[in-house]
Formats: sequence, C-alpha cells, structure tokens
Amino acid sequence: MNPLDGLFDQVLDLPNAQAQRRLGALIGCDDILAQLLKQATVLVNPRPLEQWSEQFHGRVLPAVHLVCRRTPLIILAGDVGTGKTTLAETFADALARSEKMAIRVMRLSLRTRGHGGTGEATDRIGKAFDVVREETRIHQAVILVIDEADALAQSRALKAMHHEDRAGVNALIRGLDSLVAAAARVLAVMCTNRLGAIDPAVRRRAAGLFILERPTEAQRHALLANALGDALKEDEIAEIARMTGPRNASGVVTRGPTYRRGSSPRLYWPPIPTTRSATSSYASS
Ligand SMILES: Nc1ncnc2c1ncn2[C@@H]1O[C@H](COP(=O)(O)OP(=O)(O)O)[C@@H](O)[C@H]1O
Ligand SMILES: [Mg+2]
Repeated sequence: MNPLDGLFDQVLDLPNAQAQRRLGALIGCDDILAQLLKQATVLVNPRPLEQWSEQFHGRVLPAVHLVCRRTPLIILAGDVGTGKTTLAETFADALARSEKMAIRVMRLSLRTRGHGGTGEATDRIGKAFDVVREETRIHQAVILVIDEADALAQSRALKAMHHEDRAGVNALIRGLDSLVAAAARVLAVMCTNRLGAIDPAVRRRAAGLFILERPTEAQRHALLANALGDALKEDEIAEIARMTGPRNASGVVTRGPTYRRGSSPRLYWPPIPTTRSATSSYASS
C-alpha cells in the first residue's frame, strides 16, 4: 500500500538541509525548541534515561517509568502564523543530527477523516497509526504531525457533532494509546490555533503543551532585518517593526506584551496518570 494513499500528505526524511534552514530561520523559538527536543528524546528513546537511573540509583526508578510511559504526544498551540507547523515539521532535524538518527516526519492528512461513511474515519485513522508504527522498522523514529488538529480531535462534547467524527476522535485516542503500549518510537505532534476545541481526553494525554506567542517588536525587527538586509535603513526597519505590532480597538498601535518571546515558554504539564486503566476510561468518556 502506498502510505501517501490519502492518509498522509507529506513525508520528510531527516536530517534534511531544507528542514534545517526552516528551523534555523525561526526567531524566538529557541527555548521551546530546547524543551521540545528534551521531551522528544525521552519519549522516542527512553533507554538513556533508564541507564542514567541504573547508574546513579542502582535501578530504574518508578519516576522514570512514569516519565517514559506518558503518551508520546506534544501539542503546539498558538495563533495562526506563529510557527507551529514549521516547528512540528522541522524540530526533529536537530534530534536526527545530534542523535545520528534517521527520522521520518509524516504529516497526517485531514482526508484521513474520510467522507463520513460508516466506520470510515475509524478505519482510516487506525490504518494511519499502523503505517507509522510500521515505519519504525526502517526509521529509528517517526514524528507524526497532526496539523490543524482541532479538525480531527475536536471535543466530543459538541452536541452537533456527527457520529462518525466522534468515532474518529475515539480512533485517534486508541491510536495515541497504541504508541505507548508498543513503546513505538513514534512521537505525535499536534498543532492547533483552537486549543479549547481539542477533546479534553486528547489534551490530558499530552506529555507537553507549548504555547507559541506572537513576536515582540524586537523579534519583528530581527525578522524584517533578515528579510530585507540593507534594502532599508535601520530606523525604517525599526518603524515598520513598531507599526506591525498589536493595535487597540481604535487601530492605534500599542506596546504589546513586554515579555521576550521564547524567553519563558509557557509550558503546562498535565498530571501523569498512575495507571493506564486510569486513562483508558477517557477514551469512552
Ligand atoms: N518565529 C518565527 N520566526 C520566523 N518565521 C516564522 C516564525 N513563525 C512563523 N514564521 C514563518 O511564518 C510562516 C507561517 O508559519 P507556520 O509554521 O505555517 O505557522 P502556523 O502553523 O503557526 O500557522 C512560515 O513561512 C514561517 O517560516
Ligand atoms: Mg500551521
């Protein structure tokens, strides 16, 4: 079967020079990237952490088991254009290089939902997870990118939700759980600009949630300077950076947030469930 057969709309093998360039061009994402890489390293390959525990504590501590048994799911949330897709597709390039791993990035197609036929979404989502797990026979790790995830993982609490869409979310949750059970070396990364619309059972499973913020004036300045080189004068670039900031209701430019983007990534760590059975009930809730 052709893995791109309507299930994935992009497959990218890392390391890859273009991915490295796209990742390198992201401004203000360094702290999130560092956290993402740490999380991904442990989730994709827990062995070094276990070895560390054996070396310094004489055994694999229960805490290590808990950390390693989390669902290998990371959510990137934030406004449109804040770099979620770019980061999801390229962050593992740094991992592929540092760990000398062959990593395949597969972007799940929204067509995986099917056309509403009975059992179609369940079948196709199940198949997509089978394909990514299978890929780890050839690649040391697979990043499953679920872009615009709110379309696939929207809250089942919505009254108007079609039965098949609800079945699709259940299938997605089963797929995510299958990645834990199999210690499958697959990391799912969901991107969304509607975090609130994501099903709570999916959100609860996430091992990490990162919120990407809009760029500050200094970051807009850096972006513009990169893009324009010496085509404009320094003070002209500074003026554009100022003018492209947030505006109030009357359209007047405001100073915007004073934090430096990326200086303190907003991270949320959902509680780690003590047993799998404690979480599996979410799938049917
Ligand atoms: N932090 C950033 N630094 C530099 N370029 C960025 C940044 N965030 C987004 N971009 C650029 O904006 C465009 C849209 O980014 P994208 O990853 O598609 O955003 P999102 O998925 O959050 O909507 C891309 O060309 C990307 O390179
Ligand atoms: Mg996007």
